[in-house]
Amino acid sequence: MSVLRGNNGPRYKHNADNSAPYDTITVDKLTPIIGAEVGGVDLSQPLGNQTFEEIHRALAENLVIFFRDQHITEEQHLDFGRRFGKLHLHPAAPHAPGHPELMVIHADKDSPRANGEGWHSDVSCDEEPPMGSILYIRNCPPRGGDTLFASMYAAYEALSDRMKRYLDGLTAIHDGEDAYRGTYANYGIADKLSYPRAEHPVIRTHPVTGKRALYVNRGFTKRIVGVPRDESNAILHYLWDLAEDPLFQCRFRWRENSIAFWDNRCVQHRAMWDYWPNTRSGHRVTVAGDRPV
Ligand code: SIN
Repeated sequence: MSVLRGNNGPRYKHNADNSAPYDTITVDKLTPIIGAEVGGVDLSQPLGNQTFEEIHRALAENLVIFFRDQHITEEQHLDFGRRFGKLHLHPAAPHAPGHPELMVIHADKDSPRANGEGWHSDVSCDEEPPMGSILYIRNCPPRGGDTLFASMYAAYEALSDRMKRYLDGLTAIHDGEDAYRGTYANYGIADKLSYPRAEHPVIRTHPVTGKRALYVNRGFTKRIVGVPRDESNAILHYLWDLAEDPLFQCRFRWRENSIAFWDNRCVQHRAMWDYWPNTRSGHRVTVAGDRPV
């Protein structure tokens, strides 16, 4: 990847796609930069090793992948997540009865809010934030309720060399307090005494691809450590705006029984609540991750 500026061409130039072909799945890219629809897979059936490896590769190459027309049980949803690692428990959100790892995603005419309405990387306030999230939407509004995904590799690549050098080695505080306190009261969930808070590098290296990604988000990142407050605010606002540039995004239009699987280590996302008073609902299984480096 390389970046050109000003009148010299596009702000961001993506390298030609030279990925190896897939044998057991189809992969149809939504944009050259992020997102692909995966076909030829029935997730209600046991996944062979080769198919699993190819899905894993499709995720690494496309950052977020989508599956259509899947009819899976709660157990099959959990099992699919477990193929990728230990499951993560959300520090605040409601879960399906008997399944603490199955987060409820739901908004209807009586909801005071919908999940994920602002740009974020899931639970980046955890010491070990989730590797990935697998959202299965069963009920869709007639229109709306899309989810936007943005590549944080592309956001990093679009930084000037000087800004990359400035950010190198800096860390930032991510805090769940504002995002979670009182947020799930409408589900009858009492607040905890405290919510997770962690310090992470502003630029992280992806443990699988080895690529560098911007790792600050408007939802959880509060301040850059070791610089004056006004400097931290200015830099964070610049980085958040850059991260939310439509150039780095794809937008997924849900249909009932679709699944989105995104990699929180290099992706931010935002859900659109433009469908009130209609209902949109499903479950999310979240795969645990490592401490960002
Ligand atoms: C989330 O997991 O942040 C919610 C995403 C969505 O509902 O599309």
